[in-house]
Amino acid sequence: MGQQWWRNAAIYQIYVRSFADSDGDGVGDLPGVRRRLSHIAELGMDAVWLTPFYASPMADGGYDVADYRMVDPLFGRLADAEGLIADAHWLGLRVIVDLVPNHTSSQHPWFAEALAAEPGSPARARYHFRDGVNGGPPNDWESMFGGPAWTQLPDGQWYLHLFDAAQPDLNWEHLDVHAEFENILRFWLGRGVDGIRIDVAHGLVKADGLPDARCTGQSGLLTTTAMPFFDQDGVHEIYRRWRKILDSYPGERIGVAEAWVPDADRLARYLRPDELHQAFNFHYTQAKWSATEFRTVIDDSLAAVAGVGAASTWVLSNHDIERHVTRFGGGRTGLRRARAAALLTMALPGSVYVYQGEELGLPEVTDLPEEVLADPKWERSGRAERGRDGCRVPIPWSGTTPPFGFGPSSAWLPQPTEWAALTVKAQRDDPGSTLSLYTAALRLRRGLPDGELTWLDSDADVLAFRREPGFTCTVNFGSAPVRLSRPGRLLLTSTEESELEQSEQTVTLPPNSAAWWTGDDTHAR
Ligand code: GLC
Ligand code: MG
Repeated sequence: MGQQWWRNAAIYQIYVRSFADSDGDGVGDLPGVRRRLSHIAELGMDAVWLTPFYASPMADGGYDVADYRMVDPLFGRLADAEGLIADAHWLGLRVIVDLVPNHTSSQHPWFAEALAAEPGSPARARYHFRDGVNGGPPNDWESMFGGPAWTQLPDGQWYLHLFDAAQPDLNWEHLDVHAEFENILRFWLGRGVDGIRIDVAHGLVKADGLPDARCTGQSGLLTTTAMPFFDQDGVHEIYRRWRKILDSYPGERIGVAEAWVPDADRLARYLRPDELHQAFNFHYTQAKWSATEFRTVIDDSLAAVAGVGAASTWVLSNHDIERHVTRFGGGRTGLRRARAAALLTMALPGSVYVYQGEELGLPEVTDLPEEVLADPKWERSGRAERGRDGCRVPIPWSGTTPPFGFGPSSAWLPQPTEWAALTVKAQRDDPGSTLSLYTAALRLRRGLPDGELTWLDSDADVLAFRREPGFTCTVNFGSAPVRLSRPGRLLLTSTEESELEQSEQTVTLPPNSAAWWTGDDTHAR
């Protein structure tokens, strides 16, 4: 791949503990990933992003890191990470690893030291320790997982954790914190990783004086409202420094922001030329299944990144949000829409992220028994929110009974028995499967023209756009068929080709479907 490989890369997200288990403990691990990497290469991806595999008490699935340079025994050893990077490169896949700088585990040596120290001592200054106000916490900030963002210690002081109490927030005004993370960054870059995904990239810097947010339900407002603990201007200074580090290594090493911010323009600030290369487009994940909602988010995203000379990313699912088959209605309709959304997404200018299992059309598992729920959201919300485990159920690879080839014996979350029909093996040789659709789309995507997107006029339920030379994508979001002038020769459709009624001049787009077309301008409207 040429210069600036990330601008149109297809990147596959591996949620390590649910991808493939090699040692029979029911939890996915790095040797498991190594054995299954060829699936990702065959799918036609350009890169993988691995979620955290570092030493962790696993209070938040590994996003609570106790040692950033060590592989947790649950996932393997450092040699497995090195082997994985080498294997991936051999298969032509770049590797992005997760970096978690907003907080450490409460079992990180720094936090242990802070807890053992007196209030006001230097060891506490690496985190946010404060005295309470009127017998309560220092301010009204809420944990993203529910409840207050502060926990009180026996000595009376409180510490800040925007996530679980086992994830204390670091104080990014402390020089040790900067030095340590620059060092960790170099540790992984030195091992050959091609990029870092920055967890909670919007959270590192807090507003001066930690002012109240003055609202409740804060975790539900992140994509619409400014908060004193997120997206503060000071974070950008950090990424400017990290960019210099990334650029000091050979090859094009990238930084990807996980940033939940109020709008596309705020997101684009992370992508200024001297900052990060990519940021996840979460506004895209919030669009309802509607032509107008998708058109708006696409236009806003493209306009915002154009302003800073960056490329957009397109994300339908990840390990924190409900799988889009279910989001778009579930069942047969949800799957039809998800397949159409995949073709829409892969036709857009920019880079696409694919979350493991979406290429199989996996739905959210909504009926996990309460006793297996592991997401800290479940307990922190007073068991009001089940949390994110439903999108983290281990991948079905083969066979007719659980764990469907995920590992030798079991899976840490139970897989639905119906997934027998959705295994990689069952889908591989079925030309109508979602896996075949993704494989075909990713292959064709490499040859798509790189022209800008221009919308074509069409029915209210239809989005149709061109990219020159000669490519058209059509999506019917409605529940009725829509007839259009035929945009050219059919390349690929999310439904069966027989569902499209094509004549010389026109085509009927079935409900909840998308199609890719090429060439022959005479048929264009
Ligand atoms: C990010 C991760 C999520 C994690 C949180 C705290 O949002 O994607 O899984 O719980 O950060 O680290
Ligand atoms: Mg294992």
